[in-house]
Amino acid sequence: MKKKEPAKTIRTSRGKLISEDLRKTEPTEGDLYKTLADNLQVGVYIIQNRKFQFVNRHMQEYTGYTEEEMLEMGPLNIVHPVDRRVAVKNAANMLKGIRTTPYRYRLMTKQGQIRWIMETVTPIIFKAEKAVLGNCMDITEQKEAKKHLQEMDALKASILDAIPQAVVGLKNRRINFANTAVEEVFGWQPEDLIGKSVTLFYRGEKEADEIGRHFYTTLEHQRTFVAEFNCRRKDGRDILCRMRSSRIGQRLTKERRIVITYEDITEQRRAEEELANSREQLRNLSIYLQSVREKESTRIAREIHDELGQSLTAIQMDLAWLDSRLPPGDLSLSTKVQHMKRLVDTTVDSVHRISTELRPILLDDLGLTAAMEWQVQEFEERTGVRCKARLDCKESSVEKDLATTLFRIFQETLTNIARHAGATLVKVHLTQKGNELRLDVSDNGKGITLKQIGDPKSFGIVGIRERVNLWGGSVSITGKPQKGTMIKVRIPLALSEGAT
Ligand SMILES: Nc1ncnc2c1ncn2[C@@H]1O[C@H](COP(=O)(O)OP(=O)(O)O)[C@@H](O)[C@H]1O
Ligand SMILES: [Mg+2]
Repeated sequence: MKKKEPAKTIRTSRGKLISEDLRKTEPTEGDLYKTLADNLQVGVYIIQNRKFQFVNRHMQEYTGYTEEEMLEMGPLNIVHPVDRRVAVKNAANMLKGIRTTPYRYRLMTKQGQIRWIMETVTPIIFKAEKAVLGNCMDITEQKEAKKHLQEMDALKASILDAIPQAVVGLKNRRINFANTAVEEVFGWQPEDLIGKSVTLFYRGEKEADEIGRHFYTTLEHQRTFVAEFNCRRKDGRDILCRMRSSRIGQRLTKERRIVITYEDITEQRRAEEELANSREQLRNLSIYLQSVREKESTRIAREIHDELGQSLTAIQMDLAWLDSRLPPGDLSLSTKVQHMKRLVDTTVDSVHRISTELRPILLDDLGLTAAMEWQVQEFEERTGVRCKARLDCKESSVEKDLATTLFRIFQETLTNIARHAGATLVKVHLTQKGNELRLDVSDNGKGITLKQIGDPKSFGIVGIRERVNLWGGSVSITGKPQKGTMIKVRIPLALSEGAT
């Protein structure tokens, strides 16, 4: 049999040519098969004597070679060199009937691209001689899609495994997925959890049911839900978890498929509590130190006032007595006594000023507004700056310690104005609005800057903030260049009742 013959026949049977042929002559049986082969959605070929005897259209599309080129080349040349040996072996096994399932190999196109082919072969008789009928399909796209899917799956798995929180998938409250972190959080191996009830993570049936109810009722009308619950590890240790859950899909289905992440926040919570405790301790210490300081000042102020005051009064009286008994005409003695009298008078003033500054006895005896009024007067006298004060607040609503706090803040504010502002007018307003005590002090000086307000070394201002914080209040300080400075203190009275 001549080798070229079948090729020639086939060539005439391609595509349109055959249909034109059909109109002219009755097709032979061979023509029919070839038409069929060309119209199949798979690659079909016949190999005989190590040569292609027939390749259909798809074979040419897969390989990128023309029919003529293919009929000239050895079939193995189109197989990827790495896959040749296995492909030949698989084909041989299939022809012998040892293998029944399709096999895969890579094909090299004329353009040098790689395509994945899935193939079956059958022994046939072609032109009275043994031949192989091959049937193949380009599965590159499926293969790539599959690879892509596998990559995605691997990516998802590694993302899930990289998350430090335990992640589980639930279907009807049973675990159908668990990441590696479940071991860290709960002490369970992920594979031991599959198919188990999620109750395993909680402290008992009852609590587990309660938690489940919370989650499922919420997830019915919202996509995600976050809550904190007590959980139990495999070793029996209880932990506090922040749980985030989201339903899978648009709504909660009958199967109630959800995903939950568990974050062990036991340590975090403990640290938070410790921090809050030590803050509370510091606060108490600060309150204590201030009250000690105030008591000490009060004691010293009283002692200076009473002891020194009494002695000085006695000296004053003695001097007056002495003065009346001086022999008339002794000018030098009289001058000396007058000098001593003046000295004692200024000393009395100094004692009064020092003791009042240490602790205005007025504050204890007459209350906040009286003490502030005195301070305003003293400020005007000392600095020559006008000070307009409106002090309307019920003394009874301001307890002693709060009165001290406000008075000290007021003192610091006035001192700052005297030292830094260069103001000519100060306005003070003390009032009670609802359950809030308000103290506003403004001046028309050069204005405090943002930097000065925020400077941690502004100890006077830091002190004001601290004092206000102790009472759960707030301070706002604002300054406008050449317009002045305004300080607003707000203290809630309801809260202040508990503080001491
Ligand atoms: N009423 C004010 N007007 C202008 N500047 C002010 C006023 N009050 C405070 N300052 C500025 O803010 C700074 C910080 O004040 P403060 O904390 O009381 O510290 P100190 O008074 O010891 O300097 C002051 O040094 C001053 O520059
Ligand atoms: Mg100051």
